[in-house]
Amino acid sequence: MNSRHRSIVSNVVPVLLLLAYSMFGSFAHAQEQGMTHEHMHEHMHSASSATTPESPSTGNPLIDEMLQLDTAFREIVSAVAVRDSKRVHAAIHSLHGTMERTHEGVHQGTVKLEKNAAKLGTFVSMDKHFHAELEMLAVDAEKNNEKGLLMRTKKLLDGCVQCHAMFRK
Ligand code: HEC
Repeated sequence: MNSRHRSIVSNVVPVLLLLAYSMFGSFAHAQEQGMTHEHMHEHMHSASSATTPESPSTGNPLIDEMLQLDTAFREIVSAVAVRDSKRVHAAIHSLHGTMERTHEGVHQGTVKLEKNAAKLGTFVSMDKHFHAELEMLAVDAEKNNEKGLLMRTKKLLDGCVQCHAMFRK
């Protein structure tokens, strides 16, 4: 890690830690916006690109979702950092359908949670809110709303960490 990266990390990490405290509030907020989510989901569906390459499946839809989220989120962080809304938008499109496959697996018993396995409802709702937030990020990207992109990307990172704390061993 060179010194430029180190200074980016030391500036960004405290901000992220502060934002982490607002996490549960933001989930509740996302819940209130359920209607908006449904609407935007339709939007995402219709805009989804058929040329997006699918990652090879691990056979576990949750792990597939996470590996795709991981790739997409790295791309999003990089794109937000250089203010490239088009790349943000494309990265979100690459995720289409991953969450639905996970939730199917959760309900059919093919996806097992390693921690808090009984709290399936909480997991599904956290995941839905996370993806709703991603869809709002796509809207920020369409509107070229740089401040929105930055704030929401930070909030999404909190979402990764919060869910892992609860459900990942
Ligand atoms: C709603 C819950 C939830 C959210 C949100 C979430 N994750 Fe996960 N993630 C999990 C769970 C549960 C596991 C553990 C899966 C297992 O090991 O069975 C996991 C595992 C992972 C793994 C390890 C996969 C492997 O091969 O073992 C990566 C990488 C990962 N997540 C990245 C991310 C990133 C990046 C984000 C945010 C952009 C994110 N996750 C958001 C629930 C979540």
